[in-house]
Amino acid sequence: MNLKKALSIEDLRAMARKRVPRFVFDYVDGGSEDEVTLNANRESFKRLRFRPRTLVDVSQRNLGTTILGGPSALPVIAGPVGLLGLSWRHGDLEMARAAAAAGVPYGVSTVSMHSLEDIAREAGGRLWFQCYVFRERAVTEALIRRASTAGYEALIVTSDFAVSGKRERDLRSGLLPATKLTLPTKLDILMHPRWLMTVASQRPRFVNVERELGAGRDAASFLPLNMFDPALDWDDFRRFRDLWKGKLLLKGVLRVDDAARAVDCGADGVVLSNHGGRQLDGVISGMDVLPDVVREIRGRASIIVDGGVRRGSDIAKALASGAEAVILGRAVNYGLAAGGAAGVTRALDILSDEFDRTLALNGCRSSADLSPDLITTV
Ligand SMILES: Cc1cc2nc3c(=O)[nH]c(=O)nc-3n(C[C@H](O)[C@H](O)[C@H](O)COP(=O)(O)O)c2cc1C
Repeated sequence: MNLKKALSIEDLRAMARKRVPRFVFDYVDGGSEDEVTLNANRESFKRLRFRPRTLVDVSQRNLGTTILGGPSALPVIAGPVGLLGLSWRHGDLEMARAAAAAGVPYGVSTVSMHSLEDIAREAGGRLWFQCYVFRERAVTEALIRRASTAGYEALIVTSDFAVSGKRERDLRSGLLPATKLTLPTKLDILMHPRWLMTVASQRPRFVNVERELGAGRDAASFLPLNMFDPALDWDDFRRFRDLWKGKLLLKGVLRVDDAARAVDCGADGVVLSNHGGRQLDGVISGMDVLPDVVREIRGRASIIVDGGVRRGSDIAKALASGAEAVILGRAVNYGLAAGGAAGVTRALDILSDEFDRTLALNGCRSSADLSPDLITTV
């Protein structure tokens, strides 16, 4: 596919839809139940409008910023997304390489299909490790120690997965709950021979977990059945704080009191997130709660937001509302599914170009100029 023809993230989404089998596209694109929250994430951005400053010299602009104390070429993080290897052969590595080349951090998912060590060795860049908490705490703690040894800079503890959201697209295709693909899904795969020959030639494996399970236990069966621990609570989070010496983020926060509590427990930052509308349907968006959280914890911790970022102007709206950066989930995953690392690069280039124009047209020279007076709600 000619990635240059993609002018927007929506164009990359359309390319991804053509390139991969329907069940893969639906896994990436879909949300839970009626997808109310999935769509509302976009609405939260659309409700915000700019009040640009005029007659400002914006001939010199700088898109770079600091995220969680380190440099980033753009105020974005390529977010933790599981099963990237379904979108493109060696998807996690491709994503990591593109993020490193673009100079932005990448959060590797617990359910990546390459080991966290391989990704660190082969891609480099600023790497964060996203941790799901398993019922078997020994597995989680081993993963945390491995991420530390491999040089990961930050740990993201995801807290919005007590149980899986009801994702009806995945239930229909047979991807969930136990990857028993239906006949229509199998026929559709046959209609995508290139995907079949490249991506499907590798059996999906949850390598990070597999290594911890020991002989005779298969991660593919371990994960869906016995997945994450619904008993996860604040005491656990405090224990992770003791265990992990690097930067610590809590992802899945949607309340001011929880954001404050995370900081009191020693978090270096919070990610205001509803998991891209894939968990509780009908929940508010990270953007909806952002101003109140900023009022409560500004200056004490990094505030990162995600959900529905598809334009550079969305990044600017989040920053003007007080976020330090945004996490990109689907935006970069569509790029990956459309064209591997080159597709991710294309997605980041599109967003970077749009963010740059948004700064200029708002009379801003850098992220630091994006202040709350620049936006209003309609
Ligand atoms: C296909 C897919 C897989 C995801 N897997 C994970 C994951 O493994 N861990 C996690 O913390 N969040 C995961 N997320 C959520 C993202 O990190 C992020 O919160 C969300 O995608 C942001 O919304 P957006 O896709 O609209 O940008 C996933 C999202 C998608 C779309």
